[in-house]
Amino acid sequence: MPDEKRAPPPAPKFPVAPAEILIPLHGMHVIQTTAGLSKAEAYRQLNAQLAAVLTGERDGLANTANMAALLYQALPGLNWAGFYFLRDGGLVLGPFQGKVACIRIALGRGVCGTAAQRGETVVVPDVEAFPGHIACDHASRSEIVVPLVKDGKIFGVLDLDSPELARFDAEDAAGLQVAVALLLAGSDLGRVAD
Ligand code: SME
Repeated sequence: MPDEKRAPPPAPKFPVAPAEILIPLHGMHVIQTTAGLSKAEAYRQLNAQLAAVLTGERDGLANTANMAALLYQALPGLNWAGFYFLRDGGLVLGPFQGKVACIRIALGRGVCGTAAQRGETVVVPDVEAFPGHIACDHASRSEIVVPLVKDGKIFGVLDLDSPELARFDAEDAAGLQVAVALLLAGSDLGRVAD
């Protein structure tokens, strides 16, 4: 049978758009690594990307999930990046990237509970030297925890772990505090934390 008389292929059940149309519709973000940059430059780039990722969305769960993914992809030397939210009087695991982690941490316990109770960033160069450190992944050697505090109210903490000793310092604390300030200004965390 000549080609032109063949039945046309069945139409797809759902319209299929070419990739270049799908990408802007789904707001794809290409995350750039900060490896090789100075810490100050790395956090400038990271926080510019974070501001872009947070633009147009205030949902606290969605924004913390994307922020955990962004930090984990963009910052070198991490084995865990994520959130614990203050719920039911303690910290409860939120969105994260990395290995399965402990779910509930009491205020005052571990690095996360200490940062939440004090309302201060805690930098731990050697987790084995931190009394009460909670080991979720035995590969972790150092850790930084930044509390999520807005208008004097604590919503939870941001926690980053590294398999390298002394991975985090005052520059990381300053850069991550800016990141947390962007998150808090651009998100409603009232539905994920008490
Ligand atoms: N190491 C933390 C526990 C959380 S995990 O690192 C993901 C702590 O001591 O609070």
